[in-house]
Amino acid sequence: METAIVNITDDRQGKEAIREKIHAAGQLIRQGGLVAFPTETVYGLGADALNPLASERIYKAKGRPSDNPLIIHISNLEDLDQIVTEVPKQARKLADKFWPGPLTMIFEKSDIVPLETTGGLQTVAVRMPDHPAALLLIQSGGGFIAAPSANTSGKPSPTRAEHVAEDMRGRIPMILDGGPVGIGIESTIVDFSEKIPMILRPGYITAEMIQEVIGEIRIDPGLASENEEIRPKAPGMKYRHYAPRADLILVSGPKERVQKKINELAKKAEEEGKSAGIIGTEETRDGYRYGIVKSIGTRTDADSIARHLYGILREFDQLDVEIIYSESFSASGIGQAIRNRMLKAAGHQVIEV
Ligand code: TXA
Ligand code: MG
Repeated sequence: METAIVNITDDRQGKEAIREKIHAAGQLIRQGGLVAFPTETVYGLGADALNPLASERIYKAKGRPSDNPLIIHISNLEDLDQIVTEVPKQARKLADKFWPGPLTMIFEKSDIVPLETTGGLQTVAVRMPDHPAALLLIQSGGGFIAAPSANTSGKPSPTRAEHVAEDMRGRIPMILDGGPVGIGIESTIVDFSEKIPMILRPGYITAEMIQEVIGEIRIDPGLASENEEIRPKAPGMKYRHYAPRADLILVSGPKERVQKKINELAKKAEEEGKSAGIIGTEETRDGYRYGIVKSIGTRTDADSIARHLYGILREFDQLDVEIIYSESFSASGIGQAIRNRMLKAAGHQVIEV
């Protein structure tokens, strides 16, 4: 299959031309086809959420296990009532405050939502993305677009159209290229099918931000646990995920000690003939002596670290690095989501110094 990469960034072509391209992509979705598109978090792989065959195509293109449910993307609040049985008051408050935005909420599903879209569950995850192209695509595609991140299952989520092409070229008919995304880490997921709402995946919207709006919120105990018995509730959070091909090892502790340790480890790797990658920051990159050093962002701006995380893991894959040593980051604010994704990418390999 030929994959069309369609540029929808603003440079020179004009708003009307872009609208027409997105509209054509929407028609493709209505016909049951797949279109990758930008959102503010990561690129999504979209299909008509109410068409079971279209959802099945998503699983096939990603190589995703069929029990891992998809998020339905909507473009206006009125549409929510069609796909869920009930919206709790607290959820309305969060929607008012954070939609469109990087927040996904889980509800009991209505009958029009096929089980193929929800991985066999009676609940459905819903999000309204904060991205003009995504919103327009949802409207022209029929209002309900199922979209997981547009990566091959298990790989880091795509934050640029080039990343989508790496994984999906030849497997889907179209990629809308809207340039690099703004946030770089997937949405926060809050489950409202429980008595007390629970965060199943941390993201840009933090527990503190949610608490301010609705009061009580729990965090899925399965997220922090390495114990096989306490599994995360979101099926997609169970697996080693977001992972580069190379082994990733996090080094955690005071700055100087971390740098010393990573230098030792990278030196040893080189002596053993292994190519090593190092994830440092603007503040520390010049202090490394061995391996291929990349800066993930600056410690004064945690958002910059979130934005570059997945891209850097993919860059190291392209360089065929065998082992990656990374600094680790404070778990406050968006740091919590960064830490969660890094721990998963590392398969929980952490060296404390
Ligand atoms: O930012 C995002 O959320 C991106 C963009 C494209 O919107 N999408 C995304 O989708 O990250 P995906 O499929 O890669 O991750 C969805 C996660 C998975 O871990 C899945 O198991 C969980 O949401 N999930 C979806 N529906 C669920 C449900 N009904 N119950 C529990 N977990 C659910
Ligand atoms: Mg994903």
